Amino acid sequence: MSDKYAEFVRGPVGGFIAPKVGLPQPTKLERYKKGQPVVDGKAFIGAAPGGRLGESLVAALKSASVEFDYSEPGVAPEGDERYKVLVFDATGITDSTQLEELWRFFHPTIRRVKSCGRVVVLGTQPELTGSAKEATAQRALEGFTRAVGKEIRKGSAVNLVYVAPGAEDQIESTLRFFISPRSAYVSGQVARIVESIGGETPEIDWNMPLAGKVALVTGASRGIGAAISETLARDGAHVVGLDIPPLKDDLEKLMSKLGGSSIVEDITAEEAPKVIADFLDAHHNGVDIVVHNAGVTKDKTLGRMDEDKWSVLMDINLSSEERINDELLARQLVKANGRVICVSSMSGIAGGAGQTNYSTSKAGVIGLVQSTAPEWAKHGVTINAVAPGFIETQMTAAMPLGPREVGRRMNSMQQGGLPVDVAEGIAWYASPASTGLTGNVVRVCGQMLIGA
Ligand SMILES: NC(=O)c1ccc[n+]([C@@H]2O[C@H](COP(=O)([O-])OP(=O)(O)OC[C@H]3O[C@@H](n4cnc5c(N)ncnc54)[C@H](O)[C@@H]3O)[C@@H](O)[C@H]2O)c1
Repeated sequence: MSDKYAEFVRGPVGGFIAPKVGLPQPTKLERYKKGQPVVDGKAFIGAAPGGRLGESLVAALKSASVEFDYSEPGVAPEGDERYKVLVFDATGITDSTQLEELWRFFHPTIRRVKSCGRVVVLGTQPELTGSAKEATAQRALEGFTRAVGKEIRKGSAVNLVYVAPGAEDQIESTLRFFISPRSAYVSGQVARIVESIGGETPEIDWNMPLAGKVALVTGASRGIGAAISETLARDGAHVVGLDIPPLKDDLEKLMSKLGGSSIVEDITAEEAPKVIADFLDAHHNGVDIVVHNAGVTKDKTLGRMDEDKWSVLMDINLSSEERINDELLARQLVKANGRVICVSSMSGIAGGAGQTNYSTSKAGVIGLVQSTAPEWAKHGVTINAVAPGFIETQMTAAMPLGPREVGRRMNSMQQGGLPVDVAEGIAWYASPASTGLTGNVVRVCGQMLIGA
């Protein structure tokens, strides 16, 4: 469904009235188009004294053909050039008194970020630091990035990436995601990179990172699942789409367009895990990427919710994912350097009125990711989740006007995201180069103003 309000305030009449009466004016977000450069413009980078990521950062920017300037801490960039990207290595901050380095770098640069720009702060996971003082200072980076995200506006996104000591060479895929238009609707988030799970990070063709990979996508025939399928196919994967029998025609039409294949099955069926595993085993000798996207809402306040609305939803959104994972794990069908990616929801983080069943299931999905990451890691497989906020789909189009408008505007981007925004997040996790990402839950919500 199109966002009529955003279209109006981007036009001449609305564009004149909106600022006069203080109405939100959402910027049209730039989104990635295949083949375009990683960054359309220049980056400006800096570091707190003692930072350990300088070399990896420079190497990653050079590999991504991103032009960049650099200055000493606290020295403003010369001239009046505006930048598409700011990256600050804050790993050298070991004490709260050094947090001023953030101010020294960003005070002179933050107003020089172009529209739809990107700000990335690099730090160390507090629990992996050497002292309580360092952990305190590194934890403080979260507040800083979230506040800048709410200040910056004009479609720009601000994110924090914690890089574990020893994982410095793992930053490229994550940096490319957070500085490019692929992360259009991801802001105020924290990603955590650890040492590689799947052995040595392979050399990849960044334009076709999933070439030769097989990806299972559940709920693939429409909405976010269709966008995930299209995006993974764009990046070179053979997509095995799955959906329920009533959507067989839609599923097969999309999969034949993408050169993929179809499994028509209800994931809650008793035989579903075996059917899926048998198919992947027989046709592909396993699977590289598993995307658990299928999900439903069955809203009612708790006192009015009948048992079916609870149990059917829980089975689709959570228990069937566990059963499919168990089967694939037991039969060792997810290949080395494989990926399991789940679709949670902002409701699983913040809770939603009328959604006790949905919020429980989606928080459970986060639990699934975090509790099974160590087991998957033993097999060289990562598991992560995206948690979408308000995404323009059939599901949100069916909402009443009031809540729909509130959902659209109550985030730093002042607009709903598109299915492709969720899909780009999944493609980032799916990349064979994302070997150091596991146990992450990153929201694709335009920095929704509720929730952590
Ligand atoms: N749209 C949003 O704003 C939003 C926000 C947060 C999270 N999500 C999550 O994103 C995912 C996709 O949502 P969407 O908006 O595209 O919804 P959608 O209803 O358009 O698509 C869901 C897909 O899952 C399939 N599905 C449902 N039950 C199934 C079953 N038992 N077996 C196999 N397939 C089944 C459906 O047939 C459909 O193709 C869901 O997990 C949803 O909870 C969506």
